[in-house]
Amino acid sequence: MIECGTCLAIVSGKFQIGLKVEGDGKLRQLSFGPQRWEEDKAPEFFPSYGDGWIYEPALAAVHHDGNVSTDLRVVSWTSEGDRTVIHLKDAVYPFEVDLHFRAIPNLGVIESWSVIRNGESGTVRLDAYASASADLGDGPLFLTQFHGDWADEANLYEERLGPGLKVLDSKLAVRAHQFRAPWFLVSRGGPASETEGDCFAGSLGWSGSYRFSFEMLPKGGMRAIAGINPFGAAYHLEPGTSLETPRLVWAYSDQGTGELSRNLHTYVRENSLRDGNRVRAVLLNNWEATYFSFDEAKIISLFDGARDLGMELFLLDDGWFGEKHPRDGDWQGLGDWMVDPKKLPNGLGVLPASAMAKGLRFGLWFEPEMVNPKSALFEDHPDWVIRQPNREMELQRSQMILDLSNPEVEAFAYSVLDDVLRANPGITYVKWDCNRYVTQPGSYYLGSGRQSQLSVAYVQALYRIMDRVAAEHPHVEIMMCSGGGGRVDYRAMSCAHEVWPSDMTDPMRRIFIQWGFSYFFPAIAVANHVTRWGERPLKFCFDVAMSGRLGMDVDVDKFSPEEKAYCRSAIATYKSIRETVQLGELYRLESPYAGPRSALMYTHNGQAVAFVYARGGVEAAPLRLRGLSAEQAYNVRELGLENEPATAVTLTGSELMEQGLPIPAMAEFGSHVFAIVPA
Ligand code: GLA
Repeated sequence: MIECGTCLAIVSGKFQIGLKVEGDGKLRQLSFGPQRWEEDKAPEFFPSYGDGWIYEPALAAVHHDGNVSTDLRVVSWTSEGDRTVIHLKDAVYPFEVDLHFRAIPNLGVIESWSVIRNGESGTVRLDAYASASADLGDGPLFLTQFHGDWADEANLYEERLGPGLKVLDSKLAVRAHQFRAPWFLVSRGGPASETEGDCFAGSLGWSGSYRFSFEMLPKGGMRAIAGINPFGAAYHLEPGTSLETPRLVWAYSDQGTGELSRNLHTYVRENSLRDGNRVRAVLLNNWEATYFSFDEAKIISLFDGARDLGMELFLLDDGWFGEKHPRDGDWQGLGDWMVDPKKLPNGLGVLPASAMAKGLRFGLWFEPEMVNPKSALFEDHPDWVIRQPNREMELQRSQMILDLSNPEVEAFAYSVLDDVLRANPGITYVKWDCNRYVTQPGSYYLGSGRQSQLSVAYVQALYRIMDRVAAEHPHVEIMMCSGGGGRVDYRAMSCAHEVWPSDMTDPMRRIFIQWGFSYFFPAIAVANHVTRWGERPLKFCFDVAMSGRLGMDVDVDKFSPEEKAYCRSAIATYKSIRETVQLGELYRLESPYAGPRSALMYTHNGQAVAFVYARGGVEAAPLRLRGLSAEQAYNVRELGLENEPATAVTLTGSELMEQGLPIPAMAEFGSHVFAIVPA
């Protein structure tokens, strides 16, 4: 932090948030990234409702005496290392807000969140309680959201922000989204470009309902407010208590979205993702191979195939549990986390033991927050689910959500994982699923006066569970899944090693989904599985999946000897490049939104890997690489060819970046993977 009298600046690389305290104690914004304001025109930084501010507020509180206004003034600020806290207090009420910042050195990344404290003699109701607020300055400003639905996540949609209020939000309570990821981009001057221009990114670390609003103000400026969605979620802050809001991660670059993403990837690897610098294993999942119908012999038979192809980790998906109501389909058994004695008569332990004997690690699927009404758990505890009086229970995928706001239920959900992992130390990987969202918010536990607190209380309990599982079982890697990619926020990532971005595994669509995720998540955190969805050529499936963390979700026993040989060689190829992919710097070269050919590359330790895909016929055209060193000569060799290994061509970095690598005409489903190593 830089200080001068009544001014301070929070600085990370090229990103600076400049603030000033007025004579009356109001906190004003002097700069935000490249935008600067004259001192007498500096906008308020964290506006609150009811005392002059007539636009979207960052904070709206109803004080214990019914006063709906808040008038925050700076009391002091403190700074230590990369952290700055600005202490604000209402001019009259003992009601305080601390604005927290953590500036990540050099990356252009600043975390921003608030802590709200009630020192009044009665409850204060919070109707808005944002994490972060900023004026993004004057336009033209272009907003990119990442929208979609189940099996169609993270599609880029860009629009120019105009007059009025633009809101991106979710109201699903137990996961960040189904329709729109909790991240956005804003570019200034024109649509976002990979290589040039001012752009911001925002990403909220909250696995529940969120809200981002952008309001063009009549006198100039674009007010951005980000945080938990307060809709239907008024928070009752008891006297003497505080609420810490989730972190909004801001990032800024003046070199376009490519640099922005690379900086965010470094941030995620080092500050959010668990073991972000440790290369991940190649995984075989049984889900699309068996669904719910398997037994011990079938699962063990899959181990040999997995090992033979070079895989390193086996994941047993849904269907392994349920005694009274065996989990033979998605309509029953969820919540009854005892091993199904019919499918697995010798218990669970034989599976990790047998996997390990065959040189594989073993992982297991859980959905600890959910319950089927047809389960022993629901029969015993009908009041443990999120539901409402006088309303028929609405099921999704035949299931209900457990009410984690109830401490007894929280303890149960933790024990689901803890018991199994403690009893089976051979399990070193968990897929943590969450296959529905809230449609009828209601809690037996919270009582009639606190129903609106459910979504916040739920997510707070969820993090206690996730943090505890991570702390107690540090050797267990975790994949966050939520009906595909619904739990893809930076806070959930701090308990996990990767996300399952989508149930869509047809590479023709997956190219877009991976492209969308690549803006905020490094390749190491994005699990991509080769499946038979879409029946695409195996090489195309592998080449698309290989640009992230590779796995397979197939019945390998059904593959022909030729197909097996191809898989074996593709997995070996992946192992030869995975360090570059998983730990490398991403360059998005050709967007799938621009035409049928798309391409991306990673650089790491002076080497690179490039991927080119054709979703339709394309003419021969050079592929201009990035991120290489201009003077260096490189050997470029195509990988994964089915016949003879290709001979390398030698070109300099500047030739590869300016003239480009010649790529022949490609037909639909064509793909190339190139290794680029110093000559
Ligand atoms: C969800 C996941 C799938 C699979 C099933 C199991 O749909 O996205 O990958 O784990 O649950 O029921």
